[in-house]
Amino acid sequence: MLAISLLPLLSLLSLGGLAHALPTTLQKRNNWPPEGSCVVDLQIEQCDDFKCEKEGYHRIDTFLTQREHADSWNYLFYKTEDAISERCITKIKVVDEGGSKPDGDGWDGINPTGGPQIYVQRDPAQQAKGKVVDLVVLRPGRWANSTEDFTREPINLGLGLDAGEVVFEDWREWDAVSSGWVWLEYTVGGSRDPITQVQVVACPTGSDATVCGSDLLGQGFKRRDTNLNGPTANGSHVFLFTSTQPIYEGDVSCVGGLKVVEEARKGQRGVIPVNLNEGTNGTALYLSVVRSSGKVPGSCLTSVIPLDTSRYFSQAHYTPVLLEDGSGTPANLNDGIPSANPIYLYTSTEEDFRAIHKKNTEIKDQLWFNSTGGFRIALYSDLHHSSYAPRCRDVPESIKDTCSDDFSFTFMGTTLDITQPDLVVIDGDLFAENGRASDGVTYPLLTDAAIAKAIHPILQRGLPFAVTWGNHDAEGSLLREDLQRTMDIQPGFVGSRGLNHLDGIGNDKLDIYADAINQPGSAKKHSLWFFDSRSYTYLAENGTASGNYGTVEQSQVDWYAANADSSVNALAFFHIPLGQISDKVGINTTAITGVHGEGVCPQGNGCDDKVNLETPYVPLFDAFLKDGDVRATFSGHDHANDYVIDAQGIKMTYDGSAGYTAYSAGDPNYNREMRVIDITGWGSTASSYKIIDDILQGTVHRNESEPIVTLY
Ligand SMILES: *[C@@H]1O[C@H](CO)[C@@H](O)[C@H](O)[C@H]1NC(C)=O
Ligand SMILES: *[C@@H]1O[C@H](CO)[C@@H](O)[C@H](O)[C@H]1NC(C)=O
Ligand SMILES: *[C@@H]1O[C@H](CO)[C@@H](O)[C@H](O)[C@H]1NC(C)=O
Ligand SMILES: *[C@@H]1O[C@H](CO)[C@@H](O)[C@H](O)[C@H]1NC(C)=O
Ligand SMILES: *[C@@H]1O[C@H](CO)[C@@H](O)[C@H](O)[C@H]1NC(C)=O
Ligand SMILES: *[C@@H]1O[C@H](CO)[C@@H](O)[C@H](O)[C@H]1NC(C)=O
Ligand SMILES: *[C@@H]1O[C@H](CO)[C@@H](O)[C@H](O)[C@H]1NC(C)=O
Repeated sequence: MLAISLLPLLSLLSLGGLAHALPTTLQKRNNWPPEGSCVVDLQIEQCDDFKCEKEGYHRIDTFLTQREHADSWNYLFYKTEDAISERCITKIKVVDEGGSKPDGDGWDGINPTGGPQIYVQRDPAQQAKGKVVDLVVLRPGRWANSTEDFTREPINLGLGLDAGEVVFEDWREWDAVSSGWVWLEYTVGGSRDPITQVQVVACPTGSDATVCGSDLLGQGFKRRDTNLNGPTANGSHVFLFTSTQPIYEGDVSCVGGLKVVEEARKGQRGVIPVNLNEGTNGTALYLSVVRSSGKVPGSCLTSVIPLDTSRYFSQAHYTPVLLEDGSGTPANLNDGIPSANPIYLYTSTEEDFRAIHKKNTEIKDQLWFNSTGGFRIALYSDLHHSSYAPRCRDVPESIKDTCSDDFSFTFMGTTLDITQPDLVVIDGDLFAENGRASDGVTYPLLTDAAIAKAIHPILQRGLPFAVTWGNHDAEGSLLREDLQRTMDIQPGFVGSRGLNHLDGIGNDKLDIYADAINQPGSAKKHSLWFFDSRSYTYLAENGTASGNYGTVEQSQVDWYAANADSSVNALAFFHIPLGQISDKVGINTTAITGVHGEGVCPQGNGCDDKVNLETPYVPLFDAFLKDGDVRATFSGHDHANDYVIDAQGIKMTYDGSAGYTAYSAGDPNYNREMRVIDITGWGSTASSYKIIDDILQGTVHRNESEPIVTLY
């Protein structure tokens, strides 16, 4: 298969001013509330081909229109600055072709070339409060609605049905290829506004769920994209809406809390008169809204999320909405409907987010070697969780009927307890839509609930963790940007989004210190790199999809090269392996240990051990050789491969898959597995081995048939 990777964006920002070896802009980007990064300009450019660049601007890799020929690619470019100034955009509006300028002062149009018009506003009052646009995304797909934090402009920037056959419409993050539907969305930095109103709307069975409650959207409400009746309840579509408002000195009341009450309370003050189980034979439940004056910090809700899962998860720093029966029980909104997933509501406040951010910053500064110079990483990959209760894949006949994603939790929990790691890494594909229950129901791809499952055993144990994103993670309801935002507010998460001029989301570097960072003499002893290998390499020469896997791009490699410090050893994590991991490439590779159970599906290629390393050329491996700090790499992606190979001195390592709902080699005796990485001697040596879930024996242990591999 021929594939051409997108040309890298130029490195536009200088990387100077390192604090703990992280560029300062990277640290700012991860602040809560997000601040310091502002979008100062947007431009739409018609490019000659899909590779075009615009100096000083970042390109969003989604076409605004899907055209047949490569000579008319329209891209949205944006330019950011670190400091908040009068140049910062505070609001964006999209107006249909031929429509008039938005009401109010100071709107500037950005695209004179036809099609829907984009206007931007720079309001000094908002700039003064730090409430500036800090992120712009294009969200492809006809069917989903925006998530919390993102403001969606409701004019389609795509061609709609005129786009002709819409390829990949179900694949949310086909970066470079838009469907006929593309929505501009943006986020605003600074504190979140308090929720001042909550509404519930029920639309009859058989009606179009995607437009349920649309009239509220025009009144400033946002819809949560989870049908509170779930997909299997066969009842009405029930959706939750919230609206927010800035609070000025004590004159606005906000929503201080929510409770779930039974039928008897219907009609009472504060109770929304819509049955959350409308149209089903489940228990009639109603949402009761508790008002607050908003004068005390933390007394207003700023976040309400419904999670449609197959079980209840405690969400650290999120308060579950309780049943108002005094029992303290989190309310299952699908009570009495056995065919539906339980749905739980969680709320949080701005104070909760601040607390999480403060704690995570502290944890990040506490990554140091233990008293004997050891640091242990527990590595999991390819969990492939989903929101519903899916069946397991490729498991022995004897457990086929009992196996569920519970098996993945148990394995993860057991191995975390055995290994007591200093850091947990999930190396991509936390989510995947496969492994559906065979009940003929089409499930919505509710990524946030799947992500909650993937990190649940880690949150339960209060461990620090980092993730890389895989090719499947953005195929559900969340884009990479949403995924990252969701992760940023999880207790213990020590990753970050990465610099905004880099390709991919979550490019990050963590340093491990000799001792507590503020101890005199404590020095950086080891580094961990995280790269986003993205999803797919979308475009062949003529702009058609190539179907090959994603790559780490030149911009990421430049960032790596500028920050690599060969005086310490480092490990690198990215979901899709580099082609050099194949034993058929023949550039001084020496197979060390493990199973090669399927073809290698590396960056920029399809699945074939005979990897094409030239087209596209992925510069990451050569950068590792040149800059010399990365001694071992870790990737998932090919679940049936779990070997380590020595490629010109770099140990290239497959993680193996830990997910029971992920495919495996198909061998009924195949066991799910995870990796332990022990960095020892204060970073001078490291080794790795696998722990397998021996389900037939009911034991969890190291695979004794393999030696512990010395990484360096
Ligand atoms: C949901 O999104 C679709 C487009 O993806 C849009 O047509 C519909 O109006 C939205 N509905 C709601 C209630 O947000
Ligand atoms: C909903 O419909 C599905 C398929 O039509 C059926 O299997 C299921 O039992 C129904 N659930 C309820 C609660 O009636
Ligand atoms: C609702 O209907 C389903 C299937 O028809 C049944 O299994 C369930 O027990 C019923 N629930 C109640 C609360 O009656
Ligand atoms: C330090 O870490 C290493 C590697 O994880 C471990 O083997 C050792 O027991 C730890 N030592 C102490 C004192 O915790
Ligand atoms: C586009 O390029 C691919 C790969 O070179 C080729 O297989 C395909 O036929 C081309 N399609 C068109 C429409 O030219
Ligand atoms: C392979 O190893 C040999 C011997 O160490 C060395 O001379 C040669 O340059 C290596 N080839 C490559 C492609 O690295
Ligand atoms: C254990 O390792 C051996 C040697 O690599 C391999 O053949 C075997 O499949 C592994 N066992 C499991 C259950 O993964």
